[in-house]
Amino acid sequence: MNKVLISPSLLSADFGNLKDELEKINNSEADWLHIDVMDGVFVPNISFGFPVLEYVAKLCKKPLDVHLMIVQPEKFIKEVKALGSMMMNVHYETCPHLHRVIQQIKDSGMKAGVTLNPATPVSVLNDVISDLDMVLLMSVNPGFGGQKFIPNTINKVKNLRKLIEETGSKVLIEVDGGVNLETGKALVEVGADVLVAGNAIFKAPDMIDMIHQMKNL
Ligand code: DX5
Ligand code: ZN
Repeated sequence: MNKVLISPSLLSADFGNLKDELEKINNSEADWLHIDVMDGVFVPNISFGFPVLEYVAKLCKKPLDVHLMIVQPEKFIKEVKALGSMMMNVHYETCPHLHRVIQQIKDSGMKAGVTLNPATPVSVLNDVISDLDMVLLMSVNPGFGGQKFIPNTINKVKNLRKLIEETGSKVLIEVDGGVNLETGKALVEVGADVLVAGNAIFKAPDMIDMIHQMKNL
């Protein structure tokens, strides 16, 4: 079995020491860097925008896994691509024309991910699953780091794994919110491919060691 991929969430980083934080990520076994963009409309919080992310992109050597918690994310495909991003995740709940947005992201040269809130069932993706590179399951309500993992996410990973097997698609399953060594292990056991972790990594006494432990779940 392949090792799980780890995508540390920048939201929990110490922004007063951003350069050092990113250097640690660069020197770790982290596979990607997860970037949470919030608009204060779709989610009740605002994080960071493109002027800040341009610096992050310059300093970070890991592929960028961008998670847009904003309305009308299709308006920013060009900006996300200009950062050099590898993956652009949009929320199902913000895209009435999801199929079109997925195609636009792929046409721009990025991989396309669709994110589901905790209350959105996996079955809404039945008709687009083969068009996707990744499904990002939220295991907390989006907007803040450091929240408690919602246990029903385990069932959602199982449902998604079943859908992927039935359709023969190569979609990755990523999970985001309240992921630590304990919840991470349970997620890997049911078939998660990528774990996002903010607090568990950036607030750990030794970030590099924590990433190493997560890689070996
Ligand atoms: C929440 C964000 C997450 C968040 C995860 O809306 O999407 O990526 O940073 O943080 P933790 O791992 O601390 O729950
Ligand atoms: Zn996220």
